[in-house]
Amino acid sequence: MELIDGKKIAALVKQELAAQVSLLRDADKKIPHLAAVLVGSDPASETYVASKVKACQEVGFKSTELRYAADMSEQQLLEVVERLNNDPDIDGYIVQLPLPAHISENKILMAIDPEKDVDGFHPCNIGKMVLGLPTYVPATPAGIVELLKRYKIETKGKHCVVIGRSNIVGTPMSILMSRKSEQADCTVTLCHSRTKNMQELTRQADILIVAIGQPHFVTADMVKEGAVVVDVGIHRLPSDKTKSGFRLTGDVDFEKVAPKCSYITPVPGGVGPMTIVSLLQNTLVATLNNNTA
Ligand code: GUN
Repeated sequence: MELIDGKKIAALVKQELAAQVSLLRDADKKIPHLAAVLVGSDPASETYVASKVKACQEVGFKSTELRYAADMSEQQLLEVVERLNNDPDIDGYIVQLPLPAHISENKILMAIDPEKDVDGFHPCNIGKMVLGLPTYVPATPAGIVELLKRYKIETKGKHCVVIGRSNIVGTPMSILMSRKSEQADCTVTLCHSRTKNMQELTRQADILIVAIGQPHFVTADMVKEGAVVVDVGIHRLPSDKTKSGFRLTGDVDFEKVAPKCSYITPVPGGVGPMTIVSLLQNTLVATLNNNTA
């Protein structure tokens, strides 16, 4: 069993991005500028946005964090989006999800200029991804593809089973893995909460990608010997063994599943760090497009 070290690969990608920033600076070109909009104070969202801003600083990108109270109106948020769309210094931006219940996520995502939609959530960008056209691919699936590539994991003709059908991870992941491309070309099965006999399907997986959002959902009996397992989940569980009083764990029962795998991503340190660098990679592309506009 080999661990897929997302932290190490993310550090490498950050070095590559920092080198690109240096080239832009030397050529007197625009430095990438990412903005992140945070509405309310959901602790997980606060952590994610802080990590994204920190990663920008590490590679030399400019970043702007825009924070608003949870009771801001949908109209006010639409106005923020409009301002960001029209701000020539902002190359790309994200609106951190989830949004408070009184704001329609769809309405907000549809209002984002697709050229600045570095999350890749706008229907135009999802449509381009489905057709295999150049676009911003959602960060978590893009990060997973990058990990498979850097570890030279064979995907062509393999059976990839994705668990979870969220718009952010499961659905785009299933589409990417089914496409005829270098790091895909799989036969894909998408499992979700209504799937019957899930174990029968997951046991056929050469590559099992888990994004169901339930701690330790995947147990050893669900995994084929020699499978590649990618765990997207991240949960805080109480623990009396750590100083902080909690430990992070994924959607996979790592201790029991890992010995059966050829490769597996740990939590933390697997997919998470790659999500952030993929967002930075999308932002660099947005800047290069902006430079030539
Ligand atoms: N919430 C959880 N993941 C993400 C993400 O990748 N982008 C945004 N905008 N919100 C999220």
